[in-house]
Amino acid sequence: MHVPADVTDLALASAGRKRIEWAAQAMPVLASIEDEFRRERPLEGVALGACLHVTTETARLMQVLKAGGARIALCASNPLSTQDDVAASLVVHDGISVYARRGEDRETYFNHIHAVLDTRPRLTMDDGADLVSTIHTDRRDLMEGVLGGTEETTTGVIRLRSMAEKGVLGYPIIAVNDADTKHLFDNRYGTGQSTVDGIIRATNRLLAGSTFVVSGYGWCGRGVAMRASGLGARVIVTEVDPLRALEAVMDGYTVTTMDEAAAVGDFFCTVTGDMHVLRREHFEKMKDGAILCNSGHFDVEIELPALADLAVQRRQIRKEVEEFLLADGRRINVLAEGRLVNLAAAEGHPSSVMDMSFANQALCAAHLARNGHGGSPRVLPVPPEIDRKIARIKLRSMGVVIDSLTPEQEKYLSSWEMGT
Ligand code: ADE
Repeated sequence: MHVPADVTDLALASAGRKRIEWAAQAMPVLASIEDEFRRERPLEGVALGACLHVTTETARLMQVLKAGGARIALCASNPLSTQDDVAASLVVHDGISVYARRGEDRETYFNHIHAVLDTRPRLTMDDGADLVSTIHTDRRDLMEGVLGGTEETTTGVIRLRSMAEKGVLGYPIIAVNDADTKHLFDNRYGTGQSTVDGIIRATNRLLAGSTFVVSGYGWCGRGVAMRASGLGARVIVTEVDPLRALEAVMDGYTVTTMDEAAAVGDFFCTVTGDMHVLRREHFEKMKDGAILCNSGHFDVEIELPALADLAVQRRQIRKEVEEFLLADGRRINVLAEGRLVNLAAAEGHPSSVMDMSFANQALCAAHLARNGHGGSPRVLPVPPEIDRKIARIKLRSMGVVIDSLTPEQEKYLSSWEMGT
């Protein structure tokens, strides 16, 4: 059967299949949902358009959605995160249409989004909201046919909330990111480990004894700070939110402005979701050899045009390291073109954490398919029963048993009369 697709090399499929099998071994929650989907077929015949990082973990999600009956088309949510062997395997071994090539240019990236939209999805599954924003700008003809969507990441949820507030959101979208079984684990432990993994793979530098600046103390920033500190770095946090800044102080980190941090950092990692967090005035103060990277969704956090403007010479000194030589002889190094360093220089979050994130995606897609349009076009929370179900399955898979309330305790919690 011919599977419409655009991937780098179909001959990579068998290597991809082995890596997907390896990931599957650490994804028990998705395996349990796959069994349920095979029996119940909640997505029977539903066209599902997905724009996600094309990794081994995403491949498992695609297999599970297919087991639920979905007809899937997948494109990349970042030009540098695609694992070409995985893309090939999904086409060859799973018969799934994939439009993703690692290193694709901007035009190809958007052509691939359009190729997915050409399948007229009833459900959209996004990581960063590029699929949704393209429907709302260039492909409004598709809107009426869309039942609903899901969004994976903080940045995407912020974009969707802005659309909803401005009254332009055309259909309901579940904020998967906001589930407890997503952001408390994926954003913190996933980003924490995979970001440090990406920095180490790209540079092979020692973190112990270094000064590591983390910009942004959301769930992702908390994870990066925790893991950099665990490897012996002195961590400095920069923030704009007073509560988060206070939390970072109480967590034991130095908190200061980027202006101050710029002069002392060895490593800089942006995880704010905002633009130009590292900019000209900071580059001008940095030490020779400073290493800059980003683990926020888009490549806007480091103002690369300003750095390019300051540089008298640029060279690719290692696979994922570009060195910018400044006129005064200082060298500033940027990892993975300022794109998500954990996906571009490593393999993204480990499978066992994506297991929970993608369990939310699968169950929310089934929820939307079962419950129809669900009323007004709003950003919806993940139903709490889905969150609890995932936590329960995950605990069971880890062999962890927990207590339950006694009838006396239940009564106590639901009463107000009993005090001192
Ligand atoms: N986002 C972060 N890590 C990921 C992974 N391993 N797969 C898909 N999306 C991700």
